[in-house]
Amino acid sequence: MPSLASNGHAAVGAEKCRMCHRVQYDSWSATAHAKKGLDCEGCHGNGADYKTMPVMKNLAAAKAAGLVIPGVEFCRKCHGTKADASLLPRAHAHKAP
Ligand code: HEC
Ligand code: HEC
Ligand code: HEC
Repeated sequence: MPSLASNGHAAVGAEKCRMCHRVQYDSWSATAHAKKGLDCEGCHGNGADYKTMPVMKNLAAAKAAGLVIPGVEFCRKCHGTKADASLLPRAHAHKAP
């Protein structure tokens, strides 16, 4: 199955993301992605080294520690070539700013 998890860092599992990202977690849990095993780290990269608060609050540091913001080319591996960028914000719900 297509996944972006393998980024050279260890996996921690979606439960670890939940305590800080409840809105995204609750919405993701109800999706076909969750049922098929495409979890947070499958789209955002394994999180052992970016999941701490000081790293997460610094986007450049988080990316250096393996965080990925997936682009539509990844979605197309399963959704096909007709998928466009309008699919991206619908991956899961977002917390109001
Ligand atoms: C200790 C709390 C904490 C944990 C645990 C945590 N995050 Fe975060 N994350 C944050 C904070 C704080 C931000 C900064 C933006 C915000 O306030 O939402 C953030 C930002 C992000 C972003 C957005 C980056 C950007 O600016 O575009 C993504 C994606 C993300 N986290 C994914 C995850 C994933 C996946 C996990 C689990 C592997 C995880 N986070 C675990 C606190 C956390
Ligand atoms: C199917 C791939 C996919 C999965 C699975 C996924 N995300 Fe995301 N996530 C995205 C995309 C794409 C964006 C950027 C959305 C945009 O462009 O508006 C994003 C954005 C975010 C952000 C930035 C703030 C926001 O809400 O926009 C956070 C935090 C986040 N994801 C956390 C998580 C967590 C935690 C999980 C697991 C519970 C998760 N994501 C699962 C694709 C995914
Ligand atoms: C590993 C395969 C896989 C990947 C990669 C994937 N998806 Fe999905 N996604 C699915 C499956 C399977 C479904 C449920 C069947 C369907 O609706 O096509 C689904 C359904 C969805 C849905 C709800 C149905 C719809 O089309 O409105 C959204 C939104 C979605 N995915 C967004 C994304 C985004 C955004 C990405 C890339 C960041 C992505 N997906 C990557 C497999 C995947």
